[in-house]
Amino acid sequence: MNDRIRTDIAHNARVWNYWLGGKDNYPVDRAVGDQVTAFYPSIGEVARADRAFLGRVVTHLAADAGVRQFLDIGTGLPTADNTHEVAQRVAADSRIVYVDNDPIVLTHARALLTSAPEGVTEYVDADARDPETILAAAGETLDLSRPVAVLMLGILNFVLDTGEARAIVKTLMDALPSGSYLVLTHPTLDPELGGEGNKAAMAFWNENATPPITARSRAEFTSFLDGLDLLEPGIVSCGRWRFEEAAVVAQFGAVGRKP
Ligand SMILES: C[S@@+](CC[C@H](N)C(=O)[O-])C[C@H]1O[C@@H](n2cnc3c(N)ncnc32)[C@H](O)[C@@H]1O
Repeated sequence: MNDRIRTDIAHNARVWNYWLGGKDNYPVDRAVGDQVTAFYPSIGEVARADRAFLGRVVTHLAADAGVRQFLDIGTGLPTADNTHEVAQRVAADSRIVYVDNDPIVLTHARALLTSAPEGVTEYVDADARDPETILAAAGETLDLSRPVAVLMLGILNFVLDTGEARAIVKTLMDALPSGSYLVLTHPTLDPELGGEGNKAAMAFWNENATPPITARSRAEFTSFLDGLDLLEPGIVSCGRWRFEEAAVVAQFGAVGRKP
């Protein structure tokens, strides 16, 4: 086993995998995952809504916006319909770079390196707090002078300082040309999305699992998209992004285009 993998404390990538019905998790992850669910019963629905959002957005960007390059930061463990599978179903020549800092995701990365022969997938073991390293590594696979869709789904919530999270997004988007996209999801305590119930769950998480997490208000989430043109329908519960009939979950989702 990779000696960076700790089985004595729950890790987000593994608990997320558990909530999505995956098998790449340990007893400690399942115990914490169940306790969080007891505090906040809709967490499994949040995870599924987030993945469905990824599917709709990547399909739209590849099919309708002509995007062929994707930088997926905070990838998570391989699951059904990973970003390259969704994009390459539309355009086999799509190029995808995955980034995560969890050692177990690195261990399973080969399941993400299954590109269609016309395209490419690459995996980078790096921390989102180091966007310059991510850009340098991504630049070996992606042409950063051409549009890139940056996906940060459920990851800025692990950068606890909002100013730092904003600076990470700005560094990434400043390095990319007009026509690039930023795709975000983020948990919230916003009562409008039914998020109040998540407060006790997050407090429990922060005492019992890693890495520590935070929620953000609509105003804070909006600030990550400063300077970008929001695609319709704007900032909504991610489950509802271009899927009106879905349940509301306490996870914002939005897509911005760099003008
Ligand atoms: C909630 S999961 C989301 C996975 C996937 N993006 C999705 O939406 O289904 C968050 C992922 O971000 C990763 N992560 C957390 N903090 C990170 C950091 N500082 N740098 C890179 N990855 C990080 C975790 O390891 C985990 O795989």
